[in-house]
Amino acid sequence: MIGTRVLSVGHYQPERVVTNAELEKIVDTNDEWIQRRVGIRERRWAGPEETVDILARKAAQDALDKAGMPASDIDTVIVATCSAFDRSPNMAARVADQLKIPNAPATIDINTACSGFPHAIAIAQQAIAFGSTTNALVIGSEKLSDVTDFTDRTTAVLTADGAGAMVLTASEDQQISPVLWGSVPEMGDAVRIERSNDDKFAQNGQSVFRWTTTALPKIAREILERAKVEPEDVGVIVLHQANLRIIEPLARKIGAEQALVATDVTESGNTSAASIPLALSKLMEQTDIPTGTPILMFAFGGGLSYAGQVIQAP
Ligand SMILES: CC(C)(COP(=O)(O)OP(=O)(O)OC[C@H]1O[C@@H](n2cnc3c(N)ncnc32)[C@H](O)[C@@H]1OP(=O)(O)O)[C@@H](O)C(=O)NCCC(=O)NCCS
Repeated sequence: MIGTRVLSVGHYQPERVVTNAELEKIVDTNDEWIQRRVGIRERRWAGPEETVDILARKAAQDALDKAGMPASDIDTVIVATCSAFDRSPNMAARVADQLKIPNAPATIDINTACSGFPHAIAIAQQAIAFGSTTNALVIGSEKLSDVTDFTDRTTAVLTADGAGAMVLTASEDQQISPVLWGSVPEMGDAVRIERSNDDKFAQNGQSVFRWTTTALPKIAREILERAKVEPEDVGVIVLHQANLRIIEPLARKIGAEQALVATDVTESGNTSAASIPLALSKLMEQTDIPTGTPILMFAFGGGLSYAGQVIQAP
């Protein structure tokens, strides 16, 4: 079976920074509460002209530039998003068009909400394994400001816009572990963007929080077992960027205290399917992560769904 390796990680964030102080003017909240309960200091919002496909294309271009690969070499585009504005064409088709990819690429959107990116990586990896794909562009992109309920202070302070992307390529060796994915369908109502609620994001934050405290360490350990990576050998942990109080204890709970932990939620907020590649790309720009370093990627969200795998740093 053909292996897969990550060639590059890129990202894009809209220019507009929205601080907690600015949010205080829109909803009944305060900086102290947001920082203490969630850890967010600021987030980015896109303007009306920057749609979710444009965010995706800009992150994809950054990943292509970092890989030194022309868009014409891509044969599969997968976009993970839960904030697409049209049913068809999907975001992947729009991105492929904007990048002028000439070779009839496969264009696939997937929606497992915040856990979308590791799911999308697994789908690309499996397409590569069977020879259907050689070079894949895998993107997580969200414009959650479009689906934010600004009358609900419990969620309006969390959501944000951004995008991240990876270029994957066929390889002799396998540099991405088998995905561990799953769901808790009976908790599907805990995180929602429903038409009956005017397509606005809503969640039962406390029940999701309680679930994460027991479920996440167990699932993270299973991801590592599947990857045959010992906790003490993990170099970087990139958990879905929902809440610093969920992110920070995980390394200790799974016995990976030595790992560098991505905490981009502090400056980017919750960008759902974009959060993992966005956080990782920024971390790689700020820190030297040696090639081959085992990176645990793990996301959870609406559904409730979850997915994760270990990749080797490019
Ligand atoms: C959403 C979340 C940050 C809320 O934090 P919390 O500590 O559970 O807060 P609670 O909902 O219990 O609210 C505590 C109090 O703060 C208040 N509060 C809620 N939002 C507030 C805000 N933005 N500003 C000020 N006060 C706020 C509540 O009204 C409540 O007040 P009360 O005690 O007087 O009733 C947290 O539950 C969380 O992160 N959950 C998991 C989210 C997640 O991972 N989602 C999955 C994928 S996106």
